[in-house]
Amino acid sequence: MSLLDIAKKRYSVRKYEDKPVEKEKLEKILACAHVAPTAANLQPVKLLVVQDKERLKSIAKAGNIYNAPLAIIVCADHSKAWTRPFDNKQTTDIDASILTDHMMLQATELGLGTVWVCFFKPDVIKKEFQLPDNLEPINILAIGYGKGIAEDSERHSETRIPMEELVSYDYL
Ligand SMILES: Cc1cc2nc3c(=O)[nH]c(=O)nc-3n(C[C@H](O)[C@H](O)[C@H](O)COP(=O)(O)O)c2cc1C
Repeated sequence: MSLLDIAKKRYSVRKYEDKPVEKEKLEKILACAHVAPTAANLQPVKLLVVQDKERLKSIAKAGNIYNAPLAIIVCADHSKAWTRPFDNKQTTDIDASILTDHMMLQATELGLGTVWVCFFKPDVIKKEFQLPDNLEPINILAIGYGKGIAEDSERHSETRIPMEELVSYDYL
């Protein structure tokens, strides 16, 4: 499958089979995160892989992960992240999100469903997982085998803004 085909196939899965994700597949997903770029290659990221049912319940206290059998809490490390000197912008969210996207697309290629979750209470995650102050949970990627009929890969002409609205060439 080409990368475009994988990107088109991916959709947010909000119903999962009660079936674990195989170790080999999880390892491939994590390998994809490992090679992701980060600003100045500082790698201010930490992945908390959660499969234990009780630990998944801890995540569910913070936000809905749709009973997925696997969730990866993507944390940014503020003590390691690059800061742009001109405006002091830290690239934590960007770095964490590149890893998240790499993992999401790899999971799709492996026939898994995912949903990217930001609607969660960060303070609850911090407390449940006893995160140190420098670690901020940025994204949660829920992963598993999707239940029900998959969404159409060709749906984007209706579900995305037109290309002309998205892209400007030689913008003034
Ligand atoms: C940064 C980000 C945060 C998101 N947060 C949530 C969330 O908290 N809960 C949820 O169900 N979906 C969440 N989504 C999924 C989006 O709603 C979804 O990607 C979007 O509606 C497009 O649909 P599709 O993924 O099926 O193509 C999030 C997606 C992104 C990229």
